[in-house]
Amino acid sequence: MLKINEHYLKLQASYLFSDIAKRVATFQEQNPEKDVIKLGIGDVTKPLPDACVQAFHKAVDEMTTESGFHGYGPEQGYDFLRQAIAENDFQARGAEISADEIFVSDGAKCDTGNIQELFSLDTRVAIPDPVYPVYLDTNVMAGRTGTFADGRYQGIVYLDSTKDNNYVPDLPTEPVDLIYLCFPNNPTGSTATKEQLQTWVDYARENKALILFDAAYEAFIRDDSLPHSIYELEGAREVAIEFRSFSKNAGFTGTRCAYTVVPKECMAYDSAGSKQAVHPLWNRRHCTKFNGVSYPVQRAAEAVYSQEGKAQIQDLVGYYLNNADLIAKVIGEFGFDYVGGDNSPYIWIQGNRDSWDFFDLLLNESGVVCTPGAGFGKCGQGYIRLSAFNSYENVTRAMERIRQAL
Ligand code: MLT
Repeated sequence: MLKINEHYLKLQASYLFSDIAKRVATFQEQNPEKDVIKLGIGDVTKPLPDACVQAFHKAVDEMTTESGFHGYGPEQGYDFLRQAIAENDFQARGAEISADEIFVSDGAKCDTGNIQELFSLDTRVAIPDPVYPVYLDTNVMAGRTGTFADGRYQGIVYLDSTKDNNYVPDLPTEPVDLIYLCFPNNPTGSTATKEQLQTWVDYARENKALILFDAAYEAFIRDDSLPHSIYELEGAREVAIEFRSFSKNAGFTGTRCAYTVVPKECMAYDSAGSKQAVHPLWNRRHCTKFNGVSYPVQRAAEAVYSQEGKAQIQDLVGYYLNNADLIAKVIGEFGFDYVGGDNSPYIWIQGNRDSWDFFDLLLNESGVVCTPGAGFGKCGQGYIRLSAFNSYENVTRAMERIRQAL
């Protein structure tokens, strides 16, 4: 008799964004005349930057010739892209990362979900609340938690991110081994200063822990004093893995390209207490389970670092940040407390009512889709998240409708 992995039965209903999509589809079926504006899932709406499109086309043309054809590429990514990433995203900011520490992949979602496979099942995991659900759900699937009770899984150390700590969690009061952090944060849009992140790096070094740092939204940082990478901090190479994505800066949500940085100094321990480097383990996993991102997509990603690409990406990010400014302005006018939007495409709003009630109110009264904060964890109850990823015209209309509904 085939038995299932019963840890899957502990998961809450469906994945948050599928759940929302189903509710919106039902609403549209019941109200076909209503025009719905989506400010829910963080999916970009603007087309790919021209520099990427040109490089993409050129690479597809190469693939039509005997001499330019590419079959299986290196699982870790082509050297041209790994070099461009290392030089532009890290070395240019004083962060010492080399090309062979970069693993190109098809998404930060997959990488942040898969990385936990490298660590033992008795790893003590610290996860912020609210949180991007992938970090938590993948640990549930792996069997690192007990059951779900009163809004939380047993066995996880939750790091509350609330108004009281400016949505930057405090260090845990009980021992942990693996720490998930995300800045600029999804879902709250909050940011962490160098001093705040240094505290986490120092904690990890003192406690033989490892930080999984999701920096998928770093391109939205406008404040020059904020770190873009955890490797800007002293000692981080020993204790941090960083995840990046081309989805939100260059509009690759449908094109798929991302990368993970695993410095060679990053260590975990075996049961005898001996140090084991994480880099060869992730390399082994990547080569076994992943066959690389396609050549044309990697060429398109490389173009992000060309002179034209850099300028076009700045425009794209600026466009969404302008939307975020508008959302923050209107929300502020209503007297709602909010965070984010200044260095992030997300605005986290304290709605003074149940999150799903607020979701329903916005959908039914204004045809605007948000993400209910409760879907990101217990601390998200009472909040909603609005995303700035839409056209300026749609955001303007959405804000006008919300103004009327409220
Ligand atoms: C979100 O809305 O939180 C993101 O789009 C999720 C993702 O990037 O997978």
